[in-house]
Amino acid sequence: MLQIARVTREMSSASRIWKGVMLQDNFGRKFEYLRLSITDACNFRCNYCLPDGYDCLGERDYMSLSEIQTLVSAFAQLGTKKVRITGGEPALRKDLTDIIALCANTPGIEQVALTTNGFNLEKKIEQWLNAGLTNLNVSADSLDPRMFETITGSSKLENILAGITKAQALGFDKIKLNAVLLKQFNLSMFDDYLAWLRDNAITVRFIELMETGSNQLYFQQNHVSGSILKQQLLDQGWSQVIRDKLAGPAQEFYHAEYAGKIGLIMPYSNDFCQTCNRLRVSSHGQLHLCLFTEQGIDLRSSLKERDIEQTKLDVIASMSNKKLSHELQQNITGINQHFASIGG
Ligand code: 5AD
Ligand code: SF4
Repeated sequence: MLQIARVTREMSSASRIWKGVMLQDNFGRKFEYLRLSITDACNFRCNYCLPDGYDCLGERDYMSLSEIQTLVSAFAQLGTKKVRITGGEPALRKDLTDIIALCANTPGIEQVALTTNGFNLEKKIEQWLNAGLTNLNVSADSLDPRMFETITGSSKLENILAGITKAQALGFDKIKLNAVLLKQFNLSMFDDYLAWLRDNAITVRFIELMETGSNQLYFQQNHVSGSILKQQLLDQGWSQVIRDKLAGPAQEFYHAEYAGKIGLIMPYSNDFCQTCNRLRVSSHGQLHLCLFTEQGIDLRSSLKERDIEQTKLDVIASMSNKKLSHELQQNITGINQHFASIGG
């Protein structure tokens, strides 16, 4: 309530007063990071996410370039410094390069990150970097082409890895590779990643499988606790990097004999949500305060009107509804059917 009153008062003055306003929730967490989904379509069929592929019959009324501009401007004026463009598969949008440029050119935005499955990375990376991309996360659930295809339904692993090599050859080093370790599939290939990291100065992030509305049985069969991986790394001489509290929920590890680093994303660990620093907006313009546990808050009408001030009000008014934690430990997955709809 206090926050809303303050906002209304400040709204009546010149917009420069927004300077210094930070998005903050009732638990003192600050939000300088926006995860922006620009499509829910995907061309892969990861068996934990979209095992039957993307449902082409779904609603495809994604935010336009101008709506995205209004959204990113509003968030930037509320203190957002980093935007991650995600999907579905964001590179399926023909205007992705324009969206990257738009984010990079918005005053206040310092980092423009992209999460992609990498299907056209090799072809596009140069364009994206020229447009202002600063960070790249590529998903690769196996380094073995056959296992990769079993998990994702795609035979593109070699192209994806070639894309990463090309990005590195262009001098770009802010690259992370994401992998979900799955008991019945790629867990036995954990050592492949370690071998790869010996000479490759990249970060591999292992994301613990999360339960969604549509993968319950699969989750029971395949979930691997991140704490087991953490112990294994510590036993093998990896050390944990002490990170700033504002750096987000990932835990990072390094080893003197390895050029690369390892990140663990452990959403089931007790304090995971304490370091939450992000808000999400779906490709249809719904604000999600958490991946799980709540309905989206509709920003679309303000975006359609290109009304930056009203968008800011809509966002700030919702902040007091952000809950302390998701309820995954109790197997409550909220409305999240799969990650393609809001972005991982
Ligand atoms: N659990 C964990 N990670 C997931 N991702 C998609 N669905 C899930 C899930 N249920 C990951 C993808 C990708 C990122 C965008 O989100 O593997 O790395
Ligand atoms: Fe597509 Fe990512 Fe879902 Fe795989 S995890 S199906 S790449 S949205």
